[in-house]
Amino acid sequence: MTKKILVGNWKMNLLPTSAKDLTSKLCPLSKKVNNCEIWLAPAAPLISTVALAAAQSQIKVGAQNVHWKESGAFTGELSAEMLRALGCSFALTGHSERRHIFHETAQESASRAAFALTQGLDVIFCVGETIEQRKSGLTEQTVDQQLSELFKLLPQKCGQQLLIAYEPVWAIGSGVAATIQDIELVHRYIANKLAGTPSQTNAPILYGGSVSPENIAEILSLPLVAGALIGGASLSFDKWSSMLDKAEAC
Ligand code: PGA
Repeated sequence: MTKKILVGNWKMNLLPTSAKDLTSKLCPLSKKVNNCEIWLAPAAPLISTVALAAAQSQIKVGAQNVHWKESGAFTGELSAEMLRALGCSFALTGHSERRHIFHETAQESASRAAFALTQGLDVIFCVGETIEQRKSGLTEQTVDQQLSELFKLLPQKCGQQLLIAYEPVWAIGSGVAATIQDIELVHRYIANKLAGTPSQTNAPILYGGSVSPENIAEILSLPLVAGALIGGASLSFDKWSSMLDKAEAC
C-alpha cells in the first residue's frame, strides 16, 4: 500500500524554539507510523532548526517557495541550492497565498516548480479555484490552466517527484473543507489530466484546505487522495497525533 503523505505547511508561524519543540515531539511518531509520512514546510528562517531536529527521524523537511533561477539579483527569494544546503528535500510552489496575496502569476508558479525539479527538490505544486471561479462553474478550467502552465515547462527527465495539491482557495483557513464529492471530482479531473502527461501519470495528488482531525479520515479514504496539505492543524502536536492515528487506520 502506498503511504499517505501528510504535509504540514506552517506558513509564517512559530519561532525557532517552538518549531524545534514541535519537530522533536513529531520525530518518534514519524518512526512509529507505517502507512503515512510526515513532511514539514516551515518558514525559511526555521528550516535549519527543523532540519536539525528532524535529522534522526523519517520526517522530510521542505520550503514554502523556491525561485526559478540558480542565483542572482532576486532580493527576498530563495534558491533550490540554498534550500538543499539547509536540509530541504522538497518545496511547495504556487500556493494560493503566493498566487493571490503576492500576485504570483501562473507562469511564475510553474517556472518555480519546473526549475526546482531539475535542482534536486521534490515539488508540491498547488492548484485550486477561488469561490468566484467555483460559483461561475470555472473550477476545472482554473485547475486546467494552472496545470497546463506547469506541463509546458516540465523537464523531460528528472529524478525528482512532482506532487499536485488540490487546494480550493475558499477552503484554506476557513474551517470549511470541500465536500468529499467535490474533492473526488476535482482529483479525478486532475488524475485524468496527469494521465495525458506520460512522465507524470502517477504523480500523487494531495488535498488541502481546512483538513483537521475531524475530517482527515474521510478525506484520506478516497483512493485518489494520496495525502493532505495541512495548515492550521499542523501547528498543534495534539492535532498531528490525532491526524496520524486516523491516517494510519485508513
Ligand atoms: P489550512 O491551510 O489547513 O489552514 O486550511 C492549508 C494550506 O494553506 O496549505
